[in-house]
Amino acid sequence: MLINLTVLPGDGIGPEVTEQAVLVLQAVAESFGHQTQLQRKPIGGAALALTNDPLPAETIQACLCSGAVLLGAVGSPTFDHNPGHLRPEAGLLRVRRELGAYANLRPAVFFPALEDSSPLRPEIVRGTDIMIVRELLGGAYFGQPRSIEGASGSRVAVNTMRYSESEIERIARVAFELAMKRRRRVLSVDKANVLECSRLWREVVTRVGKEYAEVKLGHQYVDSAAMLLVQRPTDFDVVLTENMFGDILSDQAGGVVGSLGLLASASIGGSVGLYEPVHGSAPDIAGKGIANPLGAILSTAMLLRHSFQLEMEAAAIEGAVSAVLSEGARTTDLAGKTHKAISTAEMGDRVVMAVRTAARAIA
Ligand code: IPM
Ligand code: MN
Repeated sequence: MLINLTVLPGDGIGPEVTEQAVLVLQAVAESFGHQTQLQRKPIGGAALALTNDPLPAETIQACLCSGAVLLGAVGSPTFDHNPGHLRPEAGLLRVRRELGAYANLRPAVFFPALEDSSPLRPEIVRGTDIMIVRELLGGAYFGQPRSIEGASGSRVAVNTMRYSESEIERIARVAFELAMKRRRRVLSVDKANVLECSRLWREVVTRVGKEYAEVKLGHQYVDSAAMLLVQRPTDFDVVLTENMFGDILSDQAGGVVGSLGLLASASIGGSVGLYEPVHGSAPDIAGKGIANPLGAILSTAMLLRHSFQLEMEAAAIEGAVSAVLSEGARTTDLAGKTHKAISTAEMGDRVVMAVRTAARAIA
């Protein structure tokens, strides 16, 4: 098979982690007899610096013509004072929209080797395996009108949270379909005691849920869900939620399983899938070679699974990550007091070696 990708390294630690992810992907492809074809394009602050556009036309064209898109991270303090449409993040939101990627899957799985890395007691976190299904193209992120207006000192800012029934319905279906392949539980997270958007959300999700009789559907307000996520993380299977709640809860889930640096994501549902680690550009550690590449590496596993239906190859990457963690490989974010930290590149190397070993075992 030909695995043709557009790689968008982006800002901060994005280029460092995607470099390792690409090396792992190439090792898997080689081991399983696939070809890879990659082109790199700028996005975010990197693109702003080159073209004054956080998503140049050439970048989006390349994405639309490839089998999948692998993204590093977007965001840079250099552009903090730019108007909204000239911030790096605008490039990310536009690429999601242009690709039609409305379903953002963010798994948060606890690796048994990481008992020392989670802030939670082992008996609480052990067995955690959550799939957050975050709606990615609606809500306050995209709702119109939005503005900051008025004279300095008396300005007023407006954002609009907006959801249509069809937007809620399509993301609900994604969650229920995933639940059917998992433990058959969906927890829909909203704020229906306050927000109209959430009341519609709950109604539509309940309606769609009737088509999935085998799936147990629950509803939880987002504040309460946030608390339960640290108290009883193993109770969660599929979490279905709107754009901003999903943004917040997925970072929290990263903390629960030990590090945000571990979390991968897939943004699917449109013409081309977009895969990115959940962590941001982390400007404070950019260029130091200490970032955790596992979120990016695990994103390539999701890419192989969801855009190329290469389940065995995806599992090989996930198995390799689990193996290197069991052997004690730790980047700074995971090392704590008990382990010596290795660099981004060393972690990438270790996964490459483990992937090759696993592939030989299967072959
Ligand atoms: C994420 C990020 C983005 C988001 C930012 C960088 C726009 O935090 O992917 O979670 O809020 O969606
Ligand atoms: Mn986020």
